[in-house]
Amino acid sequence: MIKLPLKNIFILTGAGISAESGIATFRGTDGLWNNYRIEDVATPAAFNKDPSLIWKFYFERIDRIKKSKPNDGHYAIKNLISASKNIHLITQNVDNLHEKAGIKNVIHMHGDIMTAFCPKCKKKYSVTRIKRPLPICKKCNSILRPNVVWFGETPLYLEKIYNLLTKSSIFISIGTSGNVYPAAEFHLIAKSSGARTVFINLEDTGIQSDIFFLGKASIILPQLFDKWISKGYIEFNR
Ligand code: OAD
Ligand code: ZN
Repeated sequence: MIKLPLKNIFILTGAGISAESGIATFRGTDGLWNNYRIEDVATPAAFNKDPSLIWKFYFERIDRIKKSKPNDGHYAIKNLISASKNIHLITQNVDNLHEKAGIKNVIHMHGDIMTAFCPKCKKKYSVTRIKRPLPICKKCNSILRPNVVWFGETPLYLEKIYNLLTKSSIFISIGTSGNVYPAAEFHLIAKSSGARTVFINLEDTGIQSDIFFLGKASIILPQLFDKWISKGYIEFNR
């Protein structure tokens, strides 16, 4: 048995953390990609072909996210971060529910749906301040695009993320299917640097980890993190 203090923790979240806030995951039975073909809405080529169609899809998602509230899973992560040292939250999600739960400095590796930017002059906009149905840059008149990472594009903040991974002692994965790289191999990088790994998911993804909890994030996380916080450490078998 080994007891690790609550520090140097890398948390990776995926669509599963927001599922219970009413935001569809990508690959579940009612997943987003069941209703849309990825190449029709989440590639630079699709945007260049028909930006109005892409913005229609994104404005629908933006409006849903605006109405959504964090769930107990988001709040449990906030409590763990407040109770520990040097803990970093990296999310694949483009929603703002971690922020709504009170967490600052969330690393959005796949971008942030609440902002848009100009592909030409790079000016950034809040989506609350852009014109529908087709937003245009006030500076250079180009068509704005959602500030999200599309298929074929490189995720954001990777250098920082790899640096954090190699320094972490504990890696926690919450609600991600492990289908999309490079996030899918983050746990392996952490592990090869000596970190212990904890996975929480509604399904058994078959990914090897030191500890695995099967169930809903909103139920598992508050119980689990409260226990860790009151003890001040996490127990691993070896
Ligand atoms: P997926 O939809 O692939 O996976 C969601 C995971 O969450 C599944 O493994 C579910 O079992 C799990 N899950 C669902 N509800 C849950 C709950 N209440 N509690 C715990 N787990 C739950 O979503 P991601 O893995 O996040 O990329 O997808 C990764 C990336 O694929 C996304 O960021 C997006 C997409 O293409 C980009 O947009 C670039
Ligand atoms: Zn511009």
